Amino acid sequence: MKKIPENYKIVLPPDRIQTRVRELGVKISEDLRGQSPIVVGVLKGACIFLADLVRAMEVPVEIDFAQISSYGDETRSTGRIKVLKDISTPIAGRHVLVVEDIIDTGRTLHYYLSELQLRNPASLRLAALINKPERQEYTPTIDYLGFTIDSGFLVGYGLDFAGMWRDLPGVYEVVEGQPKGHSPKARGHE
Ligand code: PRP
Repeated sequence: MKKIPENYKIVLPPDRIQTRVRELGVKISEDLRGQSPIVVGVLKGACIFLADLVRAMEVPVEIDFAQISSYGDETRSTGRIKVLKDISTPIAGRHVLVVEDIIDTGRTLHYYLSELQLRNPASLRLAALINKPERQEYTPTIDYLGFTIDSGFLVGYGLDFAGMWRDLPGVYEVVEGQPKGHSPKARGHE
């Protein structure tokens, strides 16, 4: 067992996440029955969720990854988005499922979903483990949502604090000791 700091309060226990991920996997498989979708994980945070989700899906999948950085701050409502790594799989005419760990401001997906749509996929769906409406500027349609968590600095199950804690099997809120003035990213990353 990993030692978890005392100021980390459990928000989503591992078994609750696993149950929900299995439900989402079943629903996605029903919707994409007979298809072989391309599952696109948004690095790095989505890696854990994606790994569990594709194993809960009954349809065969291809997997690809993108990495996107956003440099937003409170004085720049639009932020700047940069694709650090794009998917390498052609998606025209294919069913695509984008997988995210968390939707915070919504900037990342607002940008990247539009990019993917320009490539004419047969369909473009979104699975997100957590939607966090508190500071949302763009709210994409979330076809498969794990949980809504209103606020808080979250770590675990892919979510990091200064690059650490993604490996925790549950999601925790850091109840004190968060980085000060952390709003380069709304969740305090980077
Ligand atoms: C996080 C998260 C999403 C994005 C959501 O990624 O994984 O991709 O932020 O934020 P937004 O809705 O405000 O755009 P981050 O850029 O922190 O990188 P990481 O996944 O490597 O931690």
